[in-house]
Amino acid sequence: MSQKHERIVVYDFGSQYSQLIARRIRECHVFSQVVPFTTKAAELKADPPSGIILSGGPASVYAAGSPQIDADIFSLGIPVLGICYGMQLLIHTLGGQVAPSKSREYGRAEMHIKEQGKLFAGVKSPLNVWMSHGDKVLKTLDDTVVLASTANTENAAIALAGREIYGIQFHPEVVHTENGMRILENFCRRICGCSGDWSMSTFIADTVESIRRRVGSDLVILGLSGGVDSSVAAALIHKAIGTQLNCIFVNNGMLRKNEPEQVEQLFGENFQMKLYSVNASERFLEKLAGIEEPEQKRKIIGREFIEVFANTARSIGEARFLAQGTTYPDVIESISINGNPSAVIKSHHNVGGLPADLKFELLEPLACLFKDEVREVGRQLGLPEQVLMRQPFPGPGLAVRHLGAVTRETLAILREADAVFTDEIFQAGLYEKIWQAFAIFIPMRTVGVMGDLRTYDYIIALRAVESQDGMTADWVNLPHPLLQRIANRIINEVRGVNRVVYDITSKPPATIEWE
Ligand code: XMP
Repeated sequence: MSQKHERIVVYDFGSQYSQLIARRIRECHVFSQVVPFTTKAAELKADPPSGIILSGGPASVYAAGSPQIDADIFSLGIPVLGICYGMQLLIHTLGGQVAPSKSREYGRAEMHIKEQGKLFAGVKSPLNVWMSHGDKVLKTLDDTVVLASTANTENAAIALAGREIYGIQFHPEVVHTENGMRILENFCRRICGCSGDWSMSTFIADTVESIRRRVGSDLVILGLSGGVDSSVAAALIHKAIGTQLNCIFVNNGMLRKNEPEQVEQLFGENFQMKLYSVNASERFLEKLAGIEEPEQKRKIIGREFIEVFANTARSIGEARFLAQGTTYPDVIESISINGNPSAVIKSHHNVGGLPADLKFELLEPLACLFKDEVREVGRQLGLPEQVLMRQPFPGPGLAVRHLGAVTRETLAILREADAVFTDEIFQAGLYEKIWQAFAIFIPMRTVGVMGDLRTYDYIIALRAVESQDGMTADWVNLPHPLLQRIANRIINEVRGVNRVVYDITSKPPATIEWE
């Protein structure tokens, strides 16, 4: 979705901070996008950005095969800020010299500002900055003005006289750099001339308008899961086109307690959306009967979902668009400079593999937003915190939290135990601090004693993990009195369970889900 607002592009040279730079610029209320470093000057001309930032990166500018930049970027008349590798690259590209530094500089350094100019307006000196480099600029260009130095690095910050081209050796985007936000804000406002009018409310207004323009009088279909992304996408598109939006919610029988009712209440009744809520539990249960192998379960659920979704979509009529809650981290992946020096952009298809007779154009109104921005949009559109702060839930649902073959009866046990666990986590104020907390059903029975009677019942495992992105995770050391209360409640309230265990494995070596 194009933004007519001020915009700063971040050329990504493989730094772990490229996305962080874009986030920081957005915190200055200027829209920012990460682009592959291979983006040519000519490509920027169609919709010129207000400024260009060249990110850091792990390579050396003089090494063979290191990522380079189209030199024409520097003659577009668009302000440029090179950070670390980005600074070295701009000097190298324009004819200066970069070489390995005798003393590498990692971590905190004290920087003395010699010339404040626009970049350091209002910034104190000396300033604690965060460095991370092995190379440094040896020979600058004739028109270079040194703005700041550290004991190790004479050219810690430079400007090219008469041109709005700046280079800084330190990282203003990390919290360890004092006044880092001030420096980025100076670049956006004083150097690029941005007024800083980008916010989630301007995003909503613009996006509503562009959805209306693009969709016209056609129909849109959206697969609503009840998760954060599809819920916010639904609310945003609904604001734009009302009943032209058709949401399909498939109950695959693997959902948590009360989930279908909550989705129907919120979207069908409160928001008055056109909601097709399909209860296909029986069909999924039949297909899954006797299936133990996790991947097979996943495949069956995926295949059945597509079929139910496609049938429902056909019954709605000719829709031109398929809307998805794709977000920015789904869209952009950092550049692999050691293997393939080109950006890997993947389009994220939550509803992949639809039959050939269903051809849709994709509508992905959240594709430029980070997760916290998606939540803010949802908040402004009136979605409840309970939906916006929801923990991730896998597509195959409880099926991958129920070891072995699922049955209606044992799924009910898992659903009840999970509801008790979630309730206690909520009440302890931990729900939003934890990446995921859920129960697992182990289809084996152990001996217990309740009252004076011997029992022979199932085991419930509890798993709670903290994580940034689900790629790695650590188990949460939940307070023992809380664990004790949860175990007591599950055994007292859930028929068929007489033993509760807690999973204390990190990822790796284990995965978050059990299957
Ligand atoms: P694992 O179990 O691989 O999970 O450590 C990492 C994250 O991915 C989620 N997950 C899934 N999400 N479909 C999904 O939509 C799936 O088949 C699936 N499997 C795992 C999991 O909940 C965790 O957040």
